Amino acid sequence: MGSKESSPIGIFDSGIGGLTVAKAVMEALPAEDIIYFGDTARVPYGIKSKETIQKYSAEITRFLVSMNVKMVIIACNSVSAVAKEVVTEAAGELPVLNVIDAGTKAAIQTGKNQIGVIGTLATVNSGAYKRELLKRDDSLIIKSKACPMLVPLAEEGWTDNEVALKTLSIYLNGFKNNGVEALILGCTHYPLFKSSIKKVFDDRDIEIIDSADAVARAARSRLKKTSMLNTQDKSGNLSCFVSDHPQRFRELAERFLGREVPDIYIKHLQE
Ligand code: DGL
Repeated sequence: MGSKESSPIGIFDSGIGGLTVAKAVMEALPAEDIIYFGDTARVPYGIKSKETIQKYSAEITRFLVSMNVKMVIIACNSVSAVAKEVVTEAAGELPVLNVIDAGTKAAIQTGKNQIGVIGTLATVNSGAYKRELLKRDDSLIIKSKACPMLVPLAEEGWTDNEVALKTLSIYLNGFKNNGVEALILGCTHYPLFKSSIKKVFDDRDIEIIDSADAVARAARSRLKKTSMLNTQDKSGNLSCFVSDHPQRFRELAERFLGREVPDIYIKHLQE
């Protein structure tokens, strides 16, 4: 069965964090149905090898294809960094969007020349943001920093207390005095720290680029261009599939999404 306008959009992530992307997609495209997959049995991806992330990503993409989605959005920066080709292949004819391509475009559109990138170890070590940015403009100056402590802090709900502010100021200290004009939030969890990051930069004028918003805008324009927008006159439905521990996902979902997630199902992927 081929995909059509009323088919859902498939979004996936290593776990809960990709709900920041689902939230942005729901805001940009309120009539779209969404199938979200969070690999809660195997999270985190950010400290895993490229080969492992590729294997998991292919399995998830095949699942989304079997659910007859019309588009696949890679919400996870670590997957976007090391496995987008694998996902594109597994998705066959379906369009595949990812947070790194979208975030990179948004960064270029700011017109800023000195760009900071923060993300997981997998994302920063892959050099994917830097490579994509330089492909578009080789005069850019790019500085990257892995911030692995931020994922557990976000999941604990510690995004604006003194531990969060101290951790952020240690990670971002290097950016404060080296002329960085725009900062890419290159991890699903980092949009939750937006206001704390602004505090850490005092009131210095720094543009914060949220890859979640960027990929949601890209999805809207792609669906519009290909006449694949869902035109139903009711709000779309969000169904979440997780590979483990749906109860914990439910508890954390509200923090990431700003509302409850009623439909959470368990889906084991190992073959
Ligand atoms: N979703 C991951 C990312 O955006 C963060 C969590 C993890 O390490 O799996 O890179």
